[in-house]
Amino acid sequence: MIRSVKSFDLKHKRILIRVDFNVPMENEIVMDDFRIRSAIPTIKFCLSAGASVILMSHLGRPKGKVVPELSLIPVGEKLAELMEMPIKFSDDCVSEDATNVSFGLHPGEIHLLENLRFHDGETENSIEFSSKLAKHGQIYINDAFGTAHRAHASNTGVTRYFTHKGIGFLVDKELQYLEKVIQNPKSPLVLVLGGAKIASKLGLIQKFIEEADTILIGGGMAFTFLKARGVPVGGSLVDDKMIETAKRILRSARNQKVELVFPDDVTIAQEISESALQSVSQINKIPDDQMGLDIGPDTTLKFAEIIKNAGTVIWNGPMGVFETPGYEKGSLGVAQALAELHENEGIAVVGGGDTAAAVEQFDLSNEMSHVSTGGGASLELLSGNKLPAIAALES
Ligand code: 3PG
Repeated sequence: MIRSVKSFDLKHKRILIRVDFNVPMENEIVMDDFRIRSAIPTIKFCLSAGASVILMSHLGRPKGKVVPELSLIPVGEKLAELMEMPIKFSDDCVSEDATNVSFGLHPGEIHLLENLRFHDGETENSIEFSSKLAKHGQIYINDAFGTAHRAHASNTGVTRYFTHKGIGFLVDKELQYLEKVIQNPKSPLVLVLGGAKIASKLGLIQKFIEEADTILIGGGMAFTFLKARGVPVGGSLVDDKMIETAKRILRSARNQKVELVFPDDVTIAQEISESALQSVSQINKIPDDQMGLDIGPDTTLKFAEIIKNAGTVIWNGPMGVFETPGYEKGSLGVAQALAELHENEGIAVVGGGDTAAAVEQFDLSNEMSHVSTGGGASLELLSGNKLPAIAALES
């Protein structure tokens, strides 16, 4: 059983919370605060129950070195702004000074520790490093869903030092939507797949070929499947190493009787650029000097129709290069169809990473049943795999 933060007596306790504040930064400015906002319900719950809170996170991959550009100071400032309160900060997560700041916290106060990955011990899941981190708190809560597929000191090693440990509201919601809903979906269950690479989504495809009624395939990966089916794709990007794998997936879908739906038309151009001349082509008529960069209008309508008539839809991977103006329409159409599904009491779940960024760009995050904060972690969980950081909290 895994305990929820709600099940503890938090009054006058120091709560050590692993959060995932690994957010996109540019020139030391937080570019997207989705993950920070998502951790706030758990933090506020602890504070209002009379506890103090110690937050720990990684940012980027500094590989055991202090990299000033990867300091969590700007993240702390953003959190202070969102929480509308001051936040204590320690420039080393395991120094004696940092531990003393935690010991001296009063109920209602927050202490943010500097980037965990400034120490090798974090990714090496070192016992010594874990025991130093554990000193900060009396109760341990993991609310860092985005990192739950890693077995690191702050989310796995540290748990052995706590009798009282559990998950926060964010992890709880992620598990609810990405694990329980899939086990018992409202049918029909539809998977919308996109993005460039098949390789990173193999586990997900295999799992959903067994579970889903329909799989819609857009994005760059569609061209690898189409080539595997013998459809000419012009100059579109194809992952030639995955052609045999794609053929295997097509066979397996036929055997399982799951319907795979591919684009009928695509938006094409000679290069990925806002200024390049764009046109729409039938899928099998793409000229050799042009490539498909988004699903076309007919395909968007077809996908939207299937999504709106589903019971549960899981969307992982954009339909095109949505970051470049002109190639966002397919992803936008899919996002709007998911929003409509949610409004009509269906379940619309968006996997993390690029797909979450697309939905955020379209300002539709609040219109979904759930938008995951985890890229790799959501893929693992949807693929039916256990997350080590969650398994470490089982008792
Ligand atoms: C993520 O952004 O996917 C998580 O924070 C994990 O980061 P990592 O891939 O560097 O371990």
